[in-house]
Amino acid sequence: EQDSKAVMYEAHRLVAKLYHHVLTSTPYGQAALRYVEKRGLSRQIIDEFQIGFAPDSWDFTTHFLKKRGFEPQEMVEAGLLAQNDNGRIFDRFRGRIMFPIQDSQGEVIGFGGRATENIQPKYLNSPETSLFNKSRTVFNLHRSRTHIRKRNQAILFEGYMDVISTWQAGIKNGIATLGTAFTEQHARVIRRNAEQVILCYDGDNAGQEATAKALGILQQVGCTVRIAPLPQGIDPDDFIKKYGADAFSQKVILQAMPVTQFRLKHLRGKRVLHDKHDEAKYIQEALEVITQLSSPIERDMYERQLADEFTVPLETIKAEARQVHKNKQ
Ligand code: UTP
Ligand code: MN
Ligand code: MN
Ligand code: MN
Ligand code: MN
Repeated sequence: EQDSKAVMYEAHRLVAKLYHHVLTSTPYGQAALRYVEKRGLSRQIIDEFQIGFAPDSWDFTTHFLKKRGFEPQEMVEAGLLAQNDNGRIFDRFRGRIMFPIQDSQGEVIGFGGRATENIQPKYLNSPETSLFNKSRTVFNLHRSRTHIRKRNQAILFEGYMDVISTWQAGIKNGIATLGTAFTEQHARVIRRNAEQVILCYDGDNAGQEATAKALGILQQVGCTVRIAPLPQGIDPDDFIKKYGADAFSQKVILQAMPVTQFRLKHLRGKRVLHDKHDEAKYIQEALEVITQLSSPIERDMYERQLADEFTVPLETIKAEARQVHKNKQ
């Protein structure tokens, strides 16, 4: 068991190095390198994240591993190779840009592979293995940990391209999960390193919904959460490409809002606010959030904000709040 893990670590280390070499120094990687450079990644960042390319071949990686003395069946279990129903073993990653995924010690434990063209799935990740536990692994933690601890703050992104692109822009406390839902285990790993978390998911519906889920989990483990606003349809990587790194810091990270403000905005977004029925519903839903706040001052502030926003007398809002609160008990 220990031996087999050591072998898998070694195989991942070598394959990461191989793919990086293919991307940066061989003709097989030329088109992929152009793609990565077109996306704005510098040679330095390509090296630092050891970004690579798996050639479009069924047996390139298989041959490489065999030649190095690795048992093909064991490499299937490691997730580097795949096997069909007839027992035939072949390369799992073909024609993809490869992002090594490291554990908190910096050991490569898996890969995310991005298609360079419009092929589904866009990202193919390593499967769960005895090295790679997706509901625990936090991308980039081993690089960002000292920065996260020093600032007592982590920025959580949706994709690894967002982490890499913001890292290149000088933001060194970015992390991401890996194509699976955010779990309590992820939250605990983060909480061990920082109290504050800025959630910076994509500016689309999926991102909003994922934000609403992740923030509850983070609060449960004792994190103070704020939510960074992104324009509709834009993710952090897109934003930096479009508006630059300074704008990202000023207009996104520094504008991160407290949870209550996000919850209200999220609820408001689901209602049609020139419809009187929806307006009343929204006020009730908003009050369900507001009445849960433990601070009477904060409750009062948000109630006044609601009263102003909908030109409803504050007394009416307060009466409604008492009603909502009573119904909750
Ligand atoms: P996104 O679709 O937002 O990808 O998925 P992205 O980071 O913006 O990628 P680019 O810019 O198009 O290259 C966010 C994350 O969801 C997971 C990956 O972990 C990705 O980083 N994902 C996405 C998958 O696992 N599989 C997919 O097919 C798509
Ligand atoms: Mn290099
Ligand atoms: Mn997305
Ligand atoms: Mn995205
Ligand atoms: Mn993107």
